[in-house]
Amino acid sequence: MITLKVNGKTHSLEISPESSLLWTIRDHLKLTGTKFGCGKGLCGSCTVHVDGKAERSCQMTVGDAQGKNITTIEGIPEGHPLKKAWVKEQVAQCGYCQPGQIMQAAELLAKDKNPSEAKIIKAMDGNLCRCGTYPRIKSAIILAAKEGQK
Ligand code: FES
Ligand code: FES
Repeated sequence: MITLKVNGKTHSLEISPESSLLWTIRDHLKLTGTKFGCGKGLCGSCTVHVDGKAERSCQMTVGDAQGKNITTIEGIPEGHPLKKAWVKEQVAQCGYCQPGQIMQAAELLAKDKNPSEAKIIKAMDGNLCRCGTYPRIKSAIILAAKEGQK
């Protein structure tokens, strides 16, 4: 039996501790905002927070995630400055990578309320977007940082 705490709710699951955190979130908990991209830790589309740290959920087992606080894109409130900025800047194109992008950006803003452009680019470097929305992602993070300070 595995006990997972996701978005503040505790779930007991009859699964192997070796199961992937990504597929457990998607298939067992039906939280499908977290996306499968490469499955190899290379694209960032599966990014969630584990105890506040952005992690690639395709690379983590539920055994390792047990006892930790997991947050998925569904756990970021709709009124969060990042979600609002994403809409205002019309960031998404196909949208596939965007939950992972927002989770990565949320970790950045939690650590640094007013990151420089260089810091934003560095923090977001491992999150790939096949549609090339990078300039709008950067603008949205800058806007969210400004709004978050009001
Ligand atoms: S699906 Fe996990 S990093 Fe690409
Ligand atoms: S918006 Fe299409 S992959 Fe990023």
